[in-house]
Amino acid sequence: MHLLTKATTATAVLLAIPGVQGNLNQLAKAAGKLYFGSATDNSELSDSAYVNVLKNKDEFGQITPGNTQKWQYTEPSNGVFDYTQGDVITNFAEANGQILRCHNLVWHNQLPSWVSSGSWTAAQLTDVINAHIASEVGHYKGQCYAWDVVNEALNDDGTFRADVFYNVLGTSYLPIAFKAAAAADPDARLYYNDYNIEYSGAKATAALNIVKTIQAAGAPIHGVGFQGHFIVGGTPSQTDLTNVLNSFVALDVDVAYTELDVRFSSLPANAAGYAQQANDYGAVVGACLAVSRCVGITVWDFDDKYSWIPSTFSGQGEACLYWQNLTAKPAYYKVQSLLAAAATATSSVSSSTAISTIKTTSTPTTTLVTTISKTTVTSSTTKTITTAAAPTKTAAHWDQCGGNGWTGPTVCASPYTCKKQNDWYSQCL
Ligand SMILES: *[C@@H]1O[C@H](CO)[C@@H](O)[C@H](O)[C@H]1NC(C)=O
Repeated sequence: MHLLTKATTATAVLLAIPGVQGNLNQLAKAAGKLYFGSATDNSELSDSAYVNVLKNKDEFGQITPGNTQKWQYTEPSNGVFDYTQGDVITNFAEANGQILRCHNLVWHNQLPSWVSSGSWTAAQLTDVINAHIASEVGHYKGQCYAWDVVNEALNDDGTFRADVFYNVLGTSYLPIAFKAAAAADPDARLYYNDYNIEYSGAKATAALNIVKTIQAAGAPIHGVGFQGHFIVGGTPSQTDLTNVLNSFVALDVDVAYTELDVRFSSLPANAAGYAQQANDYGAVVGACLAVSRCVGITVWDFDDKYSWIPSTFSGQGEACLYWQNLTAKPAYYKVQSLLAAAATATSSVSSSTAISTIKTTSTPTTTLVTTISKTTVTSSTTKTITTAAAPTKTAAHWDQCGGNGWTGPTVCASPYTCKKQNDWYSQCL
């Protein structure tokens, strides 16, 4: 498994950039998204061939720790907190200039038995949740662009999962958790995250109701994460995916695909299967591109070598964008081409929008500009990233500053300079 030669690694890196069309994150940003990212895990970071791909922020501009921010790692016994393993991932992301989605705070699984098997009053369990979130979100304050605050609260039929949180607190644990996270890091975007809510049905409706419940309780919720664990040939249509995203956006939350992979339900795969897998990945990417408040896409690792699928679904696999030999699959090129096309279209849409705005209105309009607060990698101060071509005078660190059709600022804030990444995208570095 670890016998990849240096020559193979170099080949894989070159093949990932066919015709130098740009890497996934830089294309996603040029298309108006905040990131294209990947999950990773501690044990994988000793694989240098894998790390050489993962650490490239042009390819993966966002990292999610796959396991080691979960409760079993961070508070293994009551009041005993341990962030050593989670810090390995967050430090990796920061060293490489990658945004962090942090994962997760309240979940029935990978939950230590002192929580799940405790006999709690409502007041006691509320204190346990508040203390856990205050410590963990406080520890990572300023580092996490987003937190998955509550994960997988629902059964597939749309009823609430009867875990310790629901059994003791009913749905009140939802706003309790979101309020605690907001108190500990007011700048983090706070998400509800689940699977099988990507397509219309009882579970998606129940997730919409979760957003409404949290909002009605006066707690902040900024986004919903759609895990996106799909099966080749069984992935929802782009239309259904888009409609569901829009139904959540109508509640004034961001949306994101947070754990995307598309697995073969039986192996070995053949050429037709790889083509179908490419189309399935394409439907998901297309849905995110079609919805402006879809901020980004995260794959649940990019390399079949480290996919969770084979150990969880016996006989299934090959779910990732790259084969185990770190060669990109047809699905990779599908994703890349859709992002590149959207990057080009985004540039022409922003210029025509700007022109029509000038012609048709004399009052200032601000609705096109969405600002997202994010933490810089080198300090605890926050900065603002614009996700549309904002009429600001200078572009901030990491922001776009040029490219075909670009109408936004072309001068970078000091001390950064505008560097061409490809024909569609220059960035302040
Ligand atoms: C990588 O593995 C895949 C699947 O086994 C194979 O089709 C492809 O040719 C391999 N590529 C390289 C460069 O070894």
